[in-house]
Amino acid sequence: MQRWLEDIHARARTRLGRGRVADYIPALARQDPARLGIAVYTNAGERYVAGDAETPFSIQSIAKVLLLTLALRTHGEALWQRVGLNPSGMPFNSLALLEAERGKPRNPFINAGAIAVADCLVSAFVTPDKHLRDVARRLAGNASILIDDEVLASEWQHRARNAAAAYLMKAFGNLDNEVDEVLRTYFSCCALAMSCRDLAIALSFLASDGHARGPGERFVSPGLTRRINAIMTTCGMYDAAGDFAYRVGLPAKSGVGGGIVAVVPGRMTVCAWSPALDDSGNSVAAQHALELFAEELDPPPPDA
Ligand code: DON
Repeated sequence: MQRWLEDIHARARTRLGRGRVADYIPALARQDPARLGIAVYTNAGERYVAGDAETPFSIQSIAKVLLLTLALRTHGEALWQRVGLNPSGMPFNSLALLEAERGKPRNPFINAGAIAVADCLVSAFVTPDKHLRDVARRLAGNASILIDDEVLASEWQHRARNAAAAYLMKAFGNLDNEVDEVLRTYFSCCALAMSCRDLAIALSFLASDGHARGPGERFVSPGLTRRINAIMTTCGMYDAAGDFAYRVGLPAKSGVGGGIVAVVPGRMTVCAWSPALDDSGNSVAAQHALELFAEELDPPPPDA
Protein backbone atom coordinates (compact mmCIF):
# COMPACT_ATOMS: atom_id res chain seq x y z
CA MET A 1 0.00 0.00 0.00
CA GLN A 2 2.80 2.46 0.83
CA ARG A 3 4.52 2.03 -2.54
CA TRP A 4 1.15 2.16 -4.23
CA LEU A 5 0.34 5.48 -2.53
CA GLU A 6 3.71 6.98 -3.41
CA ASP A 7 3.16 6.01 -7.02
CA ILE A 8 -0.28 7.70 -7.02
CA HIS A 9 1.30 10.77 -5.44
CA ALA A 10 3.99 10.93 -8.13
CA ARG A 11 1.43 10.54 -10.92
CA ALA A 12 -0.95 13.13 -9.44
CA ARG A 13 1.95 15.61 -9.21
CA THR A 14 1.75 15.96 -12.98
CA ARG A 15 -1.47 17.93 -12.41
CA LEU A 16 0.23 20.56 -10.25
CA GLY A 17 0.26 23.92 -11.99
CA ARG A 18 -3.35 23.54 -13.13
CA GLY A 19 -6.22 25.36 -11.41
CA ARG A 20 -6.17 28.33 -9.06
CA VAL A 21 -5.86 28.71 -5.29
CA ALA A 22 -9.08 30.13 -3.71
CA ASP A 23 -8.66 33.86 -3.29
CA TYR A 24 -12.16 34.94 -2.28
CA ILE A 25 -11.00 34.16 1.26
CA PRO A 26 -7.73 36.19 1.24
CA ALA A 27 -6.09 34.09 3.99
CA LEU A 28 -6.33 31.06 1.67
CA ALA A 29 -4.77 32.88 -1.30
CA ARG A 30 -1.32 32.51 0.27
CA GLN A 31 -1.37 28.71 0.13
CA ASP A 32 1.40 27.09 -1.90
CA PRO A 33 -0.18 25.46 -4.97
CA ALA A 34 2.74 23.03 -5.26
CA ARG A 35 1.65 21.13 -2.15
CA LEU A 36 0.17 17.65 -2.58
CA GLY A 37 -0.54 15.12 0.13
CA ILE A 38 -2.47 11.87 0.39
CA ALA A 39 -3.32 9.72 3.40
CA VAL A 40 -5.17 6.45 3.84
CA TYR A 41 -6.62 5.00 7.03
CA THR A 42 -7.89 1.44 6.80
CA ASN A 43 -10.58 -0.21 8.89
CA ALA A 44 -7.82 -2.37 10.35
CA GLY A 45 -6.20 0.80 11.71
CA GLU A 46 -3.28 0.93 9.28
CA ARG A 47 -2.08 4.40 8.25
CA TYR A 48 -0.30 5.27 5.03
CA VAL A 49 0.85 8.71 3.92
CA ALA A 50 2.60 10.24 0.93
CA GLY A 51 3.79 13.80 0.20
CA ASP A 52 2.43 16.65 2.32
CA ALA A 53 -0.01 14.41 4.17
CA GLU A 54 0.88 15.70 7.62
CA THR A 55 0.66 19.43 6.89
CA PRO A 56 -2.45 21.07 8.41
CA PHE A 57 -4.60 22.99 5.91
CA SER A 58 -7.94 24.77 6.10
CA ILE A 59 -10.60 22.06 5.90
CA GLN A 60 -13.31 24.51 4.76
CA SER A 61 -16.37 22.68 3.43
CA ILE A 62 -15.14 19.29 4.62
CA ALA A 63 -16.32 20.60 8.01
CA LYS A 64 -19.86 20.36 6.64
CA VAL A 65 -19.67 16.57 7.06
CA LEU A 66 -18.93 16.95 10.77
CA LEU A 67 -21.57 19.68 11.15
CA LEU A 68 -24.15 17.42 9.51
CA THR A 69 -23.17 14.41 11.59
CA LEU A 70 -23.51 16.33 14.86
CA ALA A 71 -26.83 17.88 13.79
CA LEU A 72 -28.25 14.47 12.85
CA ARG A 73 -27.20 13.24 16.27
CA THR A 74 -28.94 16.14 18.06
CA HIS A 75 -31.95 16.74 15.75
CA GLY A 76 -32.47 13.43 13.98
CA GLU A 77 -34.82 13.32 11.00
CA ALA A 78 -36.35 16.68 12.02
CA LEU A 79 -33.31 18.29 10.38
CA TRP A 80 -34.82 17.59 6.97
CA GLN A 81 -37.64 20.01 7.62
CA ARG A 82 -35.01 22.74 7.50
CA VAL A 83 -32.67 21.48 4.77
CA GLY A 84 -33.26 19.50 1.55
CA LEU A 85 -31.61 16.33 0.32
CA ASN A 86 -31.02 16.87 -3.35
CA PRO A 87 -28.10 18.13 -5.40
CA SER A 88 -28.40 21.78 -6.37
CA GLY A 89 -26.49 21.66 -9.65
CA MET A 90 -25.33 25.17 -8.70
CA PRO A 91 -22.10 26.60 -7.30
CA PHE A 92 -21.71 26.05 -3.55
CA ASN A 93 -22.33 29.72 -2.73
CA SER A 94 -25.22 30.32 -5.12
CA LEU A 95 -28.28 32.12 -3.76
CA ALA A 96 -30.44 31.54 -6.84
CA LEU A 97 -32.51 28.61 -5.52
CA LEU A 98 -32.79 29.86 -1.95
CA GLU A 99 -35.28 32.64 -2.75
CA ALA A 100 -37.30 30.42 -5.11
CA GLU A 101 -37.43 27.62 -2.53
CA ARG A 102 -38.49 29.90 0.32
CA GLY A 103 -35.34 29.76 2.40
CA LYS A 104 -34.94 25.97 2.48
CA PRO A 105 -31.45 25.13 1.17
CA ARG A 106 -31.21 22.29 -1.33
CA ASN A 107 -28.80 20.20 0.73
CA PRO A 108 -26.53 20.40 3.80
CA PHE A 109 -23.31 20.71 1.77
CA ILE A 110 -23.98 23.97 -0.06
CA ASN A 111 -23.10 27.01 2.06
CA ALA A 112 -26.72 27.92 2.87
CA GLY A 113 -27.42 24.34 3.95
CA ALA A 114 -24.41 24.20 6.24
CA ILE A 115 -25.39 27.55 7.75
CA ALA A 116 -28.86 26.13 8.55
CA VAL A 117 -27.16 23.08 10.08
CA ALA A 118 -24.86 25.38 12.10
CA ASP A 119 -28.00 27.15 13.39
CA CYS A 120 -29.23 23.81 14.78
CA LEU A 121 -25.91 23.35 16.58
CA VAL A 122 -26.03 26.89 17.99
CA SER A 123 -29.40 25.91 19.51
CA ALA A 124 -28.00 22.64 20.88
CA PHE A 125 -24.59 23.62 22.31
CA VAL A 126 -23.25 26.52 24.38
CA THR A 127 -20.05 26.72 22.31
CA PRO A 128 -20.82 24.70 19.16
CA ASP A 129 -17.57 25.62 17.39
CA LYS A 130 -15.45 24.39 20.28
CA HIS A 131 -17.62 21.31 20.57
CA LEU A 132 -17.04 20.51 16.90
CA ARG A 133 -13.30 21.18 17.27
CA ASP A 134 -13.18 18.83 20.25
CA VAL A 135 -15.07 16.14 18.33
CA ALA A 136 -12.56 16.53 15.47
CA ARG A 137 -9.68 16.20 17.95
CA ARG A 138 -11.17 13.10 19.53
CA LEU A 139 -12.03 11.41 16.24
CA ALA A 140 -8.59 12.15 14.77
CA GLY A 141 -6.74 11.35 18.00
CA ASN A 142 -4.92 14.67 17.71
CA ALA A 143 -5.33 17.18 20.55
CA SER A 144 -3.38 19.86 18.69
CA ILE A 145 -6.08 20.49 16.03
CA LEU A 146 -6.92 24.22 16.06
CA ILE A 147 -9.31 26.73 14.56
CA ASP A 148 -7.13 29.03 12.41
CA ASP A 149 -7.99 32.53 13.69
CA GLU A 150 -6.56 34.24 10.63
CA VAL A 151 -8.75 32.22 8.26
CA LEU A 152 -11.74 32.83 10.55
CA ALA A 153 -11.13 36.59 10.53
CA SER A 154 -10.71 36.56 6.76
CA GLU A 155 -13.96 34.68 6.22
CA TRP A 156 -15.74 37.02 8.60
CA GLN A 157 -14.45 40.07 6.78
CA HIS A 158 -15.58 38.70 3.42
CA ARG A 159 -18.86 37.25 4.63
CA ALA A 160 -21.27 39.24 2.42
CA ARG A 161 -22.53 36.31 0.34
CA ASN A 162 -22.88 33.90 3.26
CA ALA A 163 -24.52 36.68 5.30
CA ALA A 164 -26.97 37.23 2.45
CA ALA A 165 -27.88 33.53 2.53
CA ALA A 166 -28.29 33.62 6.31
CA TYR A 167 -30.48 36.75 6.26
CA LEU A 168 -32.63 35.28 3.52
CA MET A 169 -33.16 32.14 5.59
CA LYS A 170 -33.89 34.30 8.64
CA ALA A 171 -36.51 36.22 6.63
CA PHE A 172 -38.18 32.92 5.72
CA GLY A 173 -38.13 31.77 9.37
CA ASN A 174 -35.48 29.10 8.76
CA LEU A 175 -32.88 30.45 11.22
CA ASP A 176 -33.62 30.38 14.94
CA ASN A 177 -30.54 32.21 16.21
CA GLU A 178 -28.88 35.54 15.49
CA VAL A 179 -27.29 35.66 12.04
CA ASP A 180 -23.89 36.82 13.33
CA GLU A 181 -23.67 34.02 15.90
CA VAL A 182 -24.59 31.36 13.34
CA LEU A 183 -22.13 32.73 10.78
CA ARG A 184 -19.31 32.80 13.34
CA THR A 185 -20.00 29.18 14.21
CA TYR A 186 -20.06 28.16 10.55
CA PHE A 187 -16.82 30.05 9.74
CA SER A 188 -15.04 28.67 12.83
CA CYS A 189 -15.77 25.13 11.73
CA CYS A 190 -14.60 25.85 8.15
CA ALA A 191 -11.43 27.39 9.62
CA LEU A 192 -10.37 24.19 11.38
CA ALA A 193 -6.84 23.26 10.33
CA MET A 194 -6.29 19.53 9.85
CA SER A 195 -3.93 17.37 7.80
CA CYS A 196 -4.80 14.63 5.30
CA ARG A 197 -3.87 12.11 7.96
CA ASP A 198 -6.11 13.80 10.58
CA LEU A 199 -9.05 13.86 8.17
CA ALA A 200 -8.66 10.28 6.99
CA ILE A 201 -8.69 9.09 10.60
CA ALA A 202 -11.41 11.50 11.80
CA LEU A 203 -13.88 10.51 9.07
CA SER A 204 -13.06 6.81 9.19
CA PHE A 205 -16.36 6.18 10.98
CA LEU A 206 -17.95 6.61 7.53
CA ALA A 207 -16.03 3.58 6.27
CA SER A 208 -16.70 1.39 9.27
CA ASP A 209 -20.45 1.45 9.92
CA GLY A 210 -20.16 4.41 12.27
CA HIS A 211 -17.44 2.96 14.42
CA ALA A 212 -14.82 5.63 15.18
CA ARG A 213 -11.57 3.70 14.79
CA GLY A 214 -9.36 6.32 16.42
CA PRO A 215 -11.07 6.47 19.83
CA GLY A 216 -12.54 2.99 19.31
CA GLU A 217 -16.20 3.79 19.91
CA ARG A 218 -19.48 3.70 18.00
CA PHE A 219 -19.90 7.33 16.91
CA VAL A 220 -23.05 7.01 14.80
CA SER A 221 -25.31 4.14 13.76
CA PRO A 222 -24.60 2.12 10.60
CA GLY A 223 -27.82 3.51 9.06
CA LEU A 224 -26.72 7.10 9.64
CA THR A 225 -23.32 6.34 8.14
CA ARG A 226 -24.97 4.96 5.03
CA ARG A 227 -27.12 8.07 4.72
CA ILE A 228 -24.24 10.51 5.18
CA ASN A 229 -22.26 8.61 2.54
CA ALA A 230 -25.26 8.88 0.20
CA ILE A 231 -25.40 12.66 0.64
CA MET A 232 -21.65 12.88 0.02
CA THR A 233 -22.11 10.94 -3.23
CA THR A 234 -24.92 13.13 -4.50
CA CYS A 235 -23.89 16.54 -3.12
CA GLY A 236 -20.30 16.39 -1.82
CA MET A 237 -18.61 17.84 -4.90
CA TYR A 238 -21.19 20.55 -5.69
CA ASP A 239 -22.09 21.05 -9.33
CA ALA A 240 -19.35 18.55 -10.25
CA ALA A 241 -20.87 15.75 -8.13
CA GLY A 242 -21.98 13.79 -11.21
CA ASP A 243 -18.57 14.03 -12.91
CA PHE A 244 -16.78 12.98 -9.76
CA ALA A 245 -19.21 10.11 -9.09
CA TYR A 246 -18.57 8.81 -12.61
CA ARG A 247 -14.79 9.15 -12.51
CA VAL A 248 -14.16 8.11 -8.89
CA GLY A 249 -17.36 6.45 -7.72
CA LEU A 250 -16.80 7.03 -4.00
CA PRO A 251 -18.69 9.20 -1.49
CA ALA A 252 -16.54 12.32 -1.07
CA LYS A 253 -16.49 15.87 0.28
CA SER A 254 -14.26 18.68 -0.90
CA GLY A 255 -13.30 22.07 0.53
CA VAL A 256 -11.87 25.23 -1.03
CA GLY A 257 -8.70 24.73 1.04
CA GLY A 258 -7.95 22.01 -1.55
CA GLY A 259 -8.78 18.95 0.53
CA ILE A 260 -11.05 16.08 -0.52
CA VAL A 261 -12.02 13.16 1.72
CA ALA A 262 -13.37 10.00 0.09
CA VAL A 263 -14.82 6.90 1.71
CA VAL A 264 -14.45 3.29 0.61
CA PRO A 265 -17.30 1.81 2.68
CA GLY A 266 -16.26 -1.26 4.64
CA ARG A 267 -12.58 -0.75 3.84
CA MET A 268 -10.88 2.61 4.31
CA THR A 269 -10.95 6.41 4.21
CA VAL A 270 -8.63 8.45 1.99
CA CYS A 271 -7.85 12.17 2.02
CA ALA A 272 -5.97 14.06 -0.70
CA TRP A 273 -4.97 17.72 -0.58
CA SER A 274 -3.59 20.20 -3.05
CA PRO A 275 -4.62 23.88 -2.94
CA ALA A 276 -5.23 24.73 -6.62
CA LEU A 277 -8.92 24.39 -7.55
CA ASP A 278 -11.00 23.96 -10.69
CA ASP A 279 -14.00 26.14 -11.56
CA SER A 280 -16.32 24.17 -9.25
CA GLY A 281 -14.00 24.77 -6.26
CA ASN A 282 -12.59 21.23 -6.17
CA SER A 283 -8.83 20.57 -6.03
CA VAL A 284 -7.45 19.57 -9.43
CA ALA A 285 -4.57 17.38 -8.24
CA ALA A 286 -6.47 15.90 -5.28
CA GLN A 287 -9.30 14.84 -7.59
CA HIS A 288 -6.79 13.23 -9.91
CA ALA A 289 -5.10 11.44 -7.00
CA LEU A 290 -8.48 10.04 -5.94
CA GLU A 291 -9.29 8.96 -9.47
CA LEU A 292 -6.01 7.03 -9.65
CA PHE A 293 -6.66 5.62 -6.19
CA ALA A 294 -10.14 4.39 -7.16
CA GLU A 295 -8.77 2.74 -10.32
CA GLU A 296 -6.25 0.86 -8.23
CA LEU A 297 -9.05 -0.42 -5.99
CA ASP A 298 -10.72 -2.09 -8.95
CA PRO A 299 -10.22 -5.85 -8.95
CA PRO A 300 -8.13 -7.13 -11.89
CA PRO A 301 -10.14 -8.61 -14.77
CA PRO A 302 -10.92 -12.32 -14.21
CA ASP A 303 -8.45 -13.62 -16.80
CA ALA A 304 -5.57 -11.32 -15.74
O1 DON B 1 -18.32 29.64 3.14
C1 DON B 1 -17.40 29.45 2.35
O2 DON B 1 -17.41 29.90 1.23
C2 DON B 1 -16.25 28.62 2.84
N1 DON B 1 -16.11 28.72 4.25
C3 DON B 1 -16.41 27.17 2.51
C4 DON B 1 -16.61 26.92 1.05
C5 DON B 1 -16.09 25.64 0.56
O3 DON B 1 -15.14 25.06 1.01
C6 DON B 1 -16.77 25.16 -0.62
N2 DON B 1 -16.03 24.08 -1.12
N3 DON B 1 -15.60 23.65 -2.06
